[in-house]
Amino acid sequence: MSESVGKPIDRVDGRLKVTGAATYAAEFPVKNLAYGVSVTSTITKGRVKNIDVKQAEKMPGVIGVMTSENCMMLHFPQSSDPGAGKYGEKDLLPLQNDRVFYGGQHIAIVVAETFEQADQAAATIKVEYEPQTAAIGFKKNMGTAYKPASGLGGTETQVKRGDVDAALQTAAVKIDETYTTPVYHHNAMEPHATIAEWNGDKLTVYDASQSVMGVKSLLSLMLGIPQENVRVLSLFIGGGFGSKGFTWPNTFLAPMAAKQFNRPVKLVLSRQQAFSVAGRRTQTQQKITLGASQDGKLTTIKHATTSETSFVDEFTETAGVATTMLYSSPNVDVSHELVRLNRGTPCPMRAPGESVGTYALEVAMDELAYKLNMDPLQLRLVNYAETEEQKKKEFSSKNLKDCYQRGADAIGWTNRNAQPGITKEGNYLVGYGMATATYPANRSASAAKATLFADGHAEILCGTQDIGTGTYTIMTQIAADAFGLPVEKVKVKLGDSDYPKGAQSGGSQVTASVGPAIRAAALGVVSKLVNIAVADQNSPLHGYKEEDIMADNGRIYLKKNTDKGETYAAILNRKGLAQLDADAKTNVSTRNQGPPTPAPAGSPEAKIEDESKTNMAVQEDEHTDRKPYAFHSFGAQFAKVLVDPELGTIKVEKLVGVMDIGKVMNLKTATNQIMGGMIFALGMALMENTQYDPNNGRVVTRDLAQYLVPVHADIPEIEVQFIDKPDPYISPLGARGIGEIGVTGMSAAIANAIYNATGKRVRDLPITPDKLIA
Ligand code: MOS
Repeated sequence: MSESVGKPIDRVDGRLKVTGAATYAAEFPVKNLAYGVSVTSTITKGRVKNIDVKQAEKMPGVIGVMTSENCMMLHFPQSSDPGAGKYGEKDLLPLQNDRVFYGGQHIAIVVAETFEQADQAAATIKVEYEPQTAAIGFKKNMGTAYKPASGLGGTETQVKRGDVDAALQTAAVKIDETYTTPVYHHNAMEPHATIAEWNGDKLTVYDASQSVMGVKSLLSLMLGIPQENVRVLSLFIGGGFGSKGFTWPNTFLAPMAAKQFNRPVKLVLSRQQAFSVAGRRTQTQQKITLGASQDGKLTTIKHATTSETSFVDEFTETAGVATTMLYSSPNVDVSHELVRLNRGTPCPMRAPGESVGTYALEVAMDELAYKLNMDPLQLRLVNYAETEEQKKKEFSSKNLKDCYQRGADAIGWTNRNAQPGITKEGNYLVGYGMATATYPANRSASAAKATLFADGHAEILCGTQDIGTGTYTIMTQIAADAFGLPVEKVKVKLGDSDYPKGAQSGGSQVTASVGPAIRAAALGVVSKLVNIAVADQNSPLHGYKEEDIMADNGRIYLKKNTDKGETYAAILNRKGLAQLDADAKTNVSTRNQGPPTPAPAGSPEAKIEDESKTNMAVQEDEHTDRKPYAFHSFGAQFAKVLVDPELGTIKVEKLVGVMDIGKVMNLKTATNQIMGGMIFALGMALMENTQYDPNNGRVVTRDLAQYLVPVHADIPEIEVQFIDKPDPYISPLGARGIGEIGVTGMSAAIANAIYNATGKRVRDLPITPDKLIA
């Protein structure tokens, strides 16, 4: 049997999805279910003076209305509480008082027998407000900018090396430009949705989440119930892109209402509501200053970002993170500032930081190339970073030069005319652009359970989730190879907080984090099986050594004599074993490379850690020396565009992305991820743009008629290629993450192609036709 990893197999859950049999959060058939509808604030800042619910309560089917006056109080996490991160949750506790911090904030939940009844009753609720003056408008409030202490996950937000200003004074060539990006919204196909059901003091929550384990611990904390009494299920998720990474108020409101009205409650956000109350990508202004010698060698890079956050929390779009390491330069200064506005709290959105950061940096690099009269690709090669200069480490693996070369060949880079604005194809101006893609290769601790059954099939349990990326599929492939079974014999179960703790689906880390744990658990089962066989006089393998035995196609046998062996089923049946399990935890982090903190004594996780001590695969993995290395993925993005010189309309003709993401686990799902990322970036570059009313601060573009996302007709030929060289240090699988890197660099490549076509440099995204003919 050959390896299944790497093969472009179809999604194992594809049939369930296309037939509608896959259950998303809002679709669980819970008995006696009541429907919640949220009433949201129409002011941007102030207080709710009075909510008149009398009429609503009398409407047909209405069970009750939950407001700040009658709802339960939540436990406010202290900073010492586990999971009480600085980001996302602690200030987002809904209905805890009468204050309004942004338009569209939840102020009441109407619960009724049907959705329509709840919706109709919600419309009758009259709210009296005491409005206050809100901070509206990013530019208008720029004067209030402050420096945050750190970014998401403790990312450094102010980074310096060398002396940027001294180097600038002597630089032969300089670029000093400001770039802006608007607010973007994730717009996952599936809306945020929660069903909560209490059974005595036990709570089950079906939630659209990128982290079942994160939701479980937060619910336990906020509701003040023990962790073991909370079960969170996210079996299928219709996209997250970061919007389901934080736990938003709907996830608390459903269990609060369910408790209050003694009924299971479903709460689904409308598309409009998701624009206010479930995250967004912040608006940014990025000032880039580059200094170079005449031969193009960068001597100094300065990247100063101002972005915005809410009054209820702090989220920093770390646009400068990649700037500290993408190119070789002795002098670097990366800084971040925040402006507080009365908007909902922003959150990570697919490659938070890098998406908008590489847009600004990579357009600035293009501007520098023109100023130097140098090929933009050549400029990248001149400044190629052989090492991670900020952390002073080697890269675990970096094949970016191959990416550049293959991308250039695929787009036809030699057809690019260095002089902008003069080359035509028919009536259209034609342009080529390129940029570098990059994203850190994150890996964190994960655990999994593997079970082999006497009928020869196997199962994996892991408390991570598949947000639509293909996690079920590649984990099945990884497990199948480790078990020595065909993929049809392996069932991977995810999305349940009762399973061993797996990584959250954020930071492109699931494949690199969960894959090795699943592999180790499956190998652990095989090892147990081999040990049973060699100790059993009735086994043909009796008395042989474990290292002389291999597993494949549901059999273990001697490496040197493949006929000598027996099937898994034969061993289990002879021993009267219905099943054989192994738990494994791989305690590896690429972010924090210090020694891991052990799980609390007596916890289920501690038991898994204990078993992992005798698991060879875990031990080898954990003992790999990762300290000398920085873990990063890279890629090259290319675009060819056609621009109508009279109308300014832009037709993207071809996009090429060549990615170095370590070993490719499944060519089909991997291509899918990168392609999706590139399309995401096309939306950023040309269409997407959340607008707030300049007078009242409320979201104006709050549906897909007004917030434009790319549709099929907007999407050109897209070519995705992979270097496909395993990363020797990230894990035994050699795979780095893939979910986010496809977005990075691409909007810059498109913007650079538009400049090459038209000779017009638009520094404010999105690049719409009006900006080209202005
Ligand atoms: Mo991702 S934006 O880290 O879900």
